[in-house]
Amino acid sequence: MYSTNYNDLGTPRVDGPPRGKFVTLEINGREVTVPDGTSIMRAAASIGERVPKLCATDTLKAFGSCRLCLVEIEGRRGYPASCTTLVADGIKVRTESPKLSQLRRGVMELYISDHPLDCVSCPANGHCELQNVAEELDITETRYGLAGASHQHADKDASNPYFTFDPAMCIVCSRCVRACDEVQGTLALTIQGRGFASKVSASQDESFLASECVSCGACVEACPTVALTEKSLIRMGRPSKVTTTTCAYCGVGCSFNAESKDGNVVRMVPNRDGHANHGHACVKGRFAFGYATHPDRITTPMIRKSIEDPWQQVSWDEAIGHAARELRRIQATYGRDAIGGITSSRCTNEETYLVQKLVRAAFGNNNTDTCARVCHSPTGYGLKNTIGESAGTQHFDSVMKADAIIVVGANPTEGHPVFASQLKRRLRQGAKLIVIDPREIALVRTPHIKADYHLPVRPGTNVALFNSIAHVVVTEGLTKEQYVAERCDIDSYARWKAFVAEERNSPEMTAASTGVAPDLVRAAARLYASAGNGAIYYGLGVTEHSQGSTMVMCIANLAMATGNVGREGVGINPLRGQNNVQGSCDMGSFPHEFTAYRHVSDDAVRATFERAWGVPLLAEPGLRIPNMFEAAHDGSFKGIYIQGEDVVQSDPNTQHVTSAFTAMECVVVQDLFLNETAKYAHVFLPGSSFLEKDGTFTNAERRVSRVRRIMEPLAGFQDWEVTLLLSNALGYPMQYRHPSEIMDEIARLTPTFAGFSYEKLDRLGSIQWPCNDKAPEGTPIMHVGEFVRGKGQFFVTEFVPTSERATRRFPLLLTTGRILTQYNVGAQTRRTQNTVWAGADVLEIHPHDAEVRGIVQGDRVGLTSRSGEIVLPAEVTDRVRPGVVYTTFHFPESGTNVITTENSDWATNCPEYKVTAVEVVKVNQPSAWQKRFQDFTEHQLQLLKGRTPTHA
Ligand code: SF4
Ligand code: SF4
Ligand code: SF4
Ligand code: FES
Repeated sequence: MYSTNYNDLGTPRVDGPPRGKFVTLEINGREVTVPDGTSIMRAAASIGERVPKLCATDTLKAFGSCRLCLVEIEGRRGYPASCTTLVADGIKVRTESPKLSQLRRGVMELYISDHPLDCVSCPANGHCELQNVAEELDITETRYGLAGASHQHADKDASNPYFTFDPAMCIVCSRCVRACDEVQGTLALTIQGRGFASKVSASQDESFLASECVSCGACVEACPTVALTEKSLIRMGRPSKVTTTTCAYCGVGCSFNAESKDGNVVRMVPNRDGHANHGHACVKGRFAFGYATHPDRITTPMIRKSIEDPWQQVSWDEAIGHAARELRRIQATYGRDAIGGITSSRCTNEETYLVQKLVRAAFGNNNTDTCARVCHSPTGYGLKNTIGESAGTQHFDSVMKADAIIVVGANPTEGHPVFASQLKRRLRQGAKLIVIDPREIALVRTPHIKADYHLPVRPGTNVALFNSIAHVVVTEGLTKEQYVAERCDIDSYARWKAFVAEERNSPEMTAASTGVAPDLVRAAARLYASAGNGAIYYGLGVTEHSQGSTMVMCIANLAMATGNVGREGVGINPLRGQNNVQGSCDMGSFPHEFTAYRHVSDDAVRATFERAWGVPLLAEPGLRIPNMFEAAHDGSFKGIYIQGEDVVQSDPNTQHVTSAFTAMECVVVQDLFLNETAKYAHVFLPGSSFLEKDGTFTNAERRVSRVRRIMEPLAGFQDWEVTLLLSNALGYPMQYRHPSEIMDEIARLTPTFAGFSYEKLDRLGSIQWPCNDKAPEGTPIMHVGEFVRGKGQFFVTEFVPTSERATRRFPLLLTTGRILTQYNVGAQTRRTQNTVWAGADVLEIHPHDAEVRGIVQGDRVGLTSRSGEIVLPAEVTDRVRPGVVYTTFHFPESGTNVITTENSDWATNCPEYKVTAVEVVKVNQPSAWQKRFQDFTEHQLQLLKGRTPTHA
């Protein structure tokens, strides 16, 4: 059931001019003009003349099964269904008459005969369309009685942790089936049987949990009755408040109407007016919000002298004062640069902005960095240099105009599910798909979709592969010379062209390193360059390499050379991992850049910030995260403030990271839980979840959306308030009464944000930056007409193989990724019922590699690299190619990053998570690291359990 505050017009929107034409008709004596192709139902609803309906909803194609929406059309016989009948010029429609009322009442009475109106005790009371229509038609009982054959005793399916299916309440309208097909694209549901026996069935008549269902909730959202209902709604009852906010999981940035009661979230209903998701969601944002009130939340500040000491619970004043004194003591002892801060891509723009401001203005150095260092920093570098802006070029809706789509190093159905659903919709309409990935990701073969080409590239050879794609484009004359001549730097283009045309870059010559058949490369290159609109979507499989920045430039080169930037349907689209990766980068988190990627050495920019912040600022970049760890090892970096990040779990070479933390004297962690990093902390400042704060997130489309507080912060403060307290305690005053004032400051200091305000965000719903005088309502597509940097710059992208190669000692290449139901380091999703689907990381290994090692499904296998050893359960699968193994990093006890190396991108230090040479052997006990981890964790949990109030 969708949110009650939504105005459902019954059938999907149809585009008007310039693509279509308008039609004028009369409905109940009133003239209405709508785009041709609109249904009568929608035209009527658009002027407030609602027609009763049950099987229609405006997110799904009209189906015409319930026969409730009948209308009369002057001069036409019969009573056509208004949902399936389209408008026509000059027709006169009546939506109400005694005959229509009689027909509708007849239909409703039939429904009611199998669906008693026990509305008062029903959890859907007030949300149910069947109830609404019954009330509208004034039906309280049925002439057919309730004694006949019915479905009232059919078994309820409660297998899914988040929703139930009650066949007794089903009116077989098929909205759930169509939602699963059209909106989600999983096709898990069917209507089985005919007539009275017809029923909704998941997969092969399985339970929802056992079926192919991915628990996106689209069917629940579409269901007009209580048949499919959230368990939280059943448990908690009718919500009393609706607040629009933004998902705190992935970079799609879905908008939700959070329905709450007494300050508790009852359910998260995807917002049909949401610009990024149009009413869709995935299992994480839709259902996995329980972590916010999980008993593991720490809601009192704590301090301790060493990590061997028990925690002491203290007041906020004491904790903040202690942290400030310690950080200042360290600076006095070891120098100004001995401390730094890490901002979080999970926190809001305003919070991130404040943390980097705290570092630059209160710490007095530029030692600020963000977790984007370990994911999309090469995107910033590569795109800034080639096209002039460190961000994706399109809005998500642009994909609906793409003809050929390359998905490279990304797994959207797992990592960006709502975008994946939109992409699949476009593919079902006929767009072509090229997948470039070492694994056979789900998009390669999914219901009704088969990728035209899957290029199973060997990890670490992306650049060689893209050079060979470019080789085909250039040598076969598939470049768009006029576009390049008008928009790009010709000299750099000529150099690039000559480089990629060299024979050594041909698919035939690169095949030995990439492992991809030359024919496949040639076919894929031709398809992308010649299909019309070519769009590229990429993820961390592009960036997390020693040549991550080079690869981003490869993508930009190819897109420019084929004229595929600067209009709808094309573009370069980094799929950002965390909810606010784009925002944390935009907000000046990097040590070398102020907001909007302006270098700290730029005197004019720095002067602007100095004036606004009232302190002198350094012109030299500060330390990046890996440099902070190095400096900690050499004794020159002793204190850190980390807001909302778990670098111990997420950064590579865990043992190197933990020894850096043990070398520090004051580690201040602000988080919801005692995460892996907090186990090395001396000050713990309780964080607030997205449900407890106001602010904004920026998604992968550069779309800034409001986050709105639904419940009071459990620890008393929102995260931005804690930074403010710390800054004041450090002697650098910060005064903001609300995050809107922080946004106002960002807008004053940042040309691409100059037009932003909370008032405008509330009015428009969301805004894509740049938003300023030139683009007062934002910029859905960038680089239209000209590139942001002026002329597009091509770069020669020489392939330099990573030093991390398969050897006799480490013959397999490990690559990493994520799964749908878990998120990043898992701190949130592990504390929800999503663990029903995935309770541990596993190692995917090809049957051939498994067989030669005597490994079978479920065996414990030891995974050894030159950094360390861990043990995981094996999953034998041909999703991975021979020679490649794959795992995720959602569970700290797996220690995936114990074995990843310190190799990193040459330009940005982004770790090379995607390539680690390993050997895999069958073992029967955890690794030495895992045993140490277990002991350390137990010890730290004991220290937490034994925490004492200071003045006890
Ligand atoms: S479960 Fe709901 S949406 Fe599906 S057919 Fe039944 S009533 Fe319609
Ligand atoms: S929850 Fe999503 S995937 Fe599962 S049946 Fe419903 S629509 Fe399909
Ligand atoms: S996790 Fe991503 S796709 Fe899923 S609901 Fe949240 S923003 Fe949307
Ligand atoms: S709403 Fe038109 S037939 Fe059901």
